[in-house]
Amino acid sequence: MKLATRMSRLGTESAFEVLARARALEAKGIDVVHLEIGEPDFDTPQNICDAATAAINKGYTHYTTSQGIPELRAEIAKQLGSSRGVSFDPDRIVVTTGAKPIMFYSILALLGEGDEAIHQDPLFPIYESMIKFSGATAVPIPLREELGFRMDIDELRSKVTSRTKMIMINSPQNPSGGVMEEEDIRALAEIAIENDIIVLSDEVYDHIMYEGKNYSIASQPGMLDRTILLNGFSKTYAMTGWRMGYGFFPSEMVAHIVRLVTNSVSCAPPFIQQACVEALRGPQDSIPKMVAEFKKRRDLIVDGLNEIPGISCHRPKGAFYVFPNIKKLGMSADKFSDHLLNEGGVATLSGSAFGANGEGYLRLSYATSQENIKKALEKIKTVVAKL
Ligand SMILES: Cc1ncc(COP(=O)(O)O)c(C=O)c1O
Repeated sequence: MKLATRMSRLGTESAFEVLARARALEAKGIDVVHLEIGEPDFDTPQNICDAATAAINKGYTHYTTSQGIPELRAEIAKQLGSSRGVSFDPDRIVVTTGAKPIMFYSILALLGEGDEAIHQDPLFPIYESMIKFSGATAVPIPLREELGFRMDIDELRSKVTSRTKMIMINSPQNPSGGVMEEEDIRALAEIAIENDIIVLSDEVYDHIMYEGKNYSIASQPGMLDRTILLNGFSKTYAMTGWRMGYGFFPSEMVAHIVRLVTNSVSCAPPFIQQACVEALRGPQDSIPKMVAEFKKRRDLIVDGLNEIPGISCHRPKGAFYVFPNIKKLGMSADKFSDHLLNEGGVATLSGSAFGANGEGYLRLSYATSQENIKKALEKIKTVVAKL
């Protein structure tokens, strides 16, 4: 079959591939600890589940407008506004089936041949994949371990050209757990305004912070009209399988994004939109409880990794990933990740799956029990001792 040329430029997300390989080992009776998948292991709060079943029973089972129901967009605007100190117009919010489609739609709407898009490296791999799929050129900016996995802003400035149309950032970050400081955000806003660039700010981990503050670029003066703010329900409310996310867009983009929704999925499921209204309006106590538990796990895994000879691990301020440096082990990240799975029964992701600059690192998700983390650390220690 002769596929369209653009299909050769589309990448993927290796977490699902590693999960499949880990499951195949489990099917053979081998015990595997899963540190590859980036989803909270907590149950979705009961009030949200109850709201979804009540909505089904009330007949919220038909199409809605492609943009999303007004009640949900109003609640999202309220929550974004109260946490970011600026006013968000609900008419500039588009609700989607997960936050991921916001990447897809925004990039398809803005980028094409001849355009350049700057992105953090390492970064959630769908960004680079989609930039390339659109025909644009992906321009990576390394995240520096010595800067706590922040970008060097001068380096970013040096990569801006007259063709730069978008800059993609994610903070707190997947895979490094790094968080952009206020000075980084301020400098980035200046660069975007000076050079007429749209910033796609992925803030899906905004609630999962352990120390310090997460600064949203949308709050910077002059940025609300050139920011695409991507967020969702998957991480904050442990709702990965519900597939609900949203974007806040510059006014001129809204109708085009809505058309992309109409052309693809028509709308997000109505009973799930209703459940998300409850997620935002109802009790919020599940979030700090989850974050407190993640913080204990972060410390457990960082301390444990730092005790293993040849591995060093930065203590991240947010998200639920660690990105240990394994360069001293003398094996590529791909090889070591494979070796850990096959010889030790620990499923991890190679840092290079998140960009060339992720070579020499692994990504471990600590969205699993403390007991599993302790087990994984023992297994990693045994594998490393035998190298
Ligand atoms: C940085 C980042 N953005 C977006 C997403 C996608 O989230 P959703 O499940 O809402 O599509 C993920 C999921 O892992 C992520 O890590």
